[in-house]
Amino acid sequence: MSPDLPPALRQGVDALLHGVRRSGLAARSSDLSDGYRAGKASKVVIRSAEDAAAYAAARLPATYAAVARALSEADERLVDFQPTSLLDAGSGPGAAGWAATQLWGSLETAVLLDSSRIFLDLAKRLAAGGPPALAQADRRLADLTQADPWPRADLVLASYVLAELPQDKIPDVVENLWSACDGLMVVVEPGSSEGWAKIKLARDRLIALGAVLVAPCAHALPCPIQAPDWCHFVQRLPRSRDHRQAKGADRPFEDEKFIYLIAARPELALTGQAPRILAPPRQTKTAIEFKICTPAGTCSTHTVARRDKDNYPAARRLDWGDLGLGE
Ligand SMILES: C[S@@+](CC[C@H](N)C(=O)[O-])C[C@H]1O[C@@H](n2cnc3c(N)ncnc32)[C@H](O)[C@@H]1O
Repeated sequence: MSPDLPPALRQGVDALLHGVRRSGLAARSSDLSDGYRAGKASKVVIRSAEDAAAYAAARLPATYAAVARALSEADERLVDFQPTSLLDAGSGPGAAGWAATQLWGSLETAVLLDSSRIFLDLAKRLAAGGPPALAQADRRLADLTQADPWPRADLVLASYVLAELPQDKIPDVVENLWSACDGLMVVVEPGSSEGWAKIKLARDRLIALGAVLVAPCAHALPCPIQAPDWCHFVQRLPRSRDHRQAKGADRPFEDEKFIYLIAARPELALTGQAPRILAPPRQTKTAIEFKICTPAGTCSTHTVARRDKDNYPAARRLDWGDLGLGE
């Protein structure tokens, strides 16, 4: 699945920026990036429709690309999953739902939950020219830390929202979302050590609740990765002219570091577990070395020698984040 924004979403973001002074946009985007990096929540960083538009220009393309990649990894393991209903928790301007509707044309209904009216209004505006499930979505002002029962859905998304919740609330928020999940739950976070710590809290609770881990973990045993190391991946995405101007950057692409977790109800059919590549492959003169998470619950190095004519050509095509390689 492509990391590029779908044309209708790209047009929606471009329309938001029509007539906005680029110098003002770059300053606003830089303020909000600094705010998020400093650990501030959206309620502090996004105070106006202009702030939300700056988020759409500067951050939405990257959160879209990270969710698209996570969904693609899920899709590799799912056998005939055709969700019809979506719950997007902490939806912001709704990028995750756009990625889901790109992959699953079967989606007919969507509920968006967010504590920011400004973001919900922006999600509505962007979705006006989008897929029917999003254009007609039910957008609700809601606090995920409340123990409310959320509307049930085949697909539950929580993208870059755990980062904004207190650590001690995360297991219960995740449990509450899992109770609403009839099929697949997808959690995506920034690829920092803090993001990984929050994903691990979600992972522990989901395993305790009987969820089946789909990706990226190759097993449901205790995570073998030890700090100061942490698990994360990188998704490259193209930057449009507006995106570059919003970021005050020249490079035509950016690399979004992210971490994700995908869990399924046991009834969902999946292909078998396989090792996952956890870092950029290391090429030496005689071999390629892969750091892998294995179905046996270990994190280890797998080496494919250049003289291994059966496996070397395929190994050369594998990259960080991919599934593959025998143990
Ligand atoms: C960084 S934004 C991510 C938005 C979107 N999911 C994305 O991936 O682009 C975090 C979102 O979580 C929402 N949020 C934060 N705390 C929340 C809470 N307790 N309940 C509901 N939404 C919350 C914010 O309002 C914001 O829209």
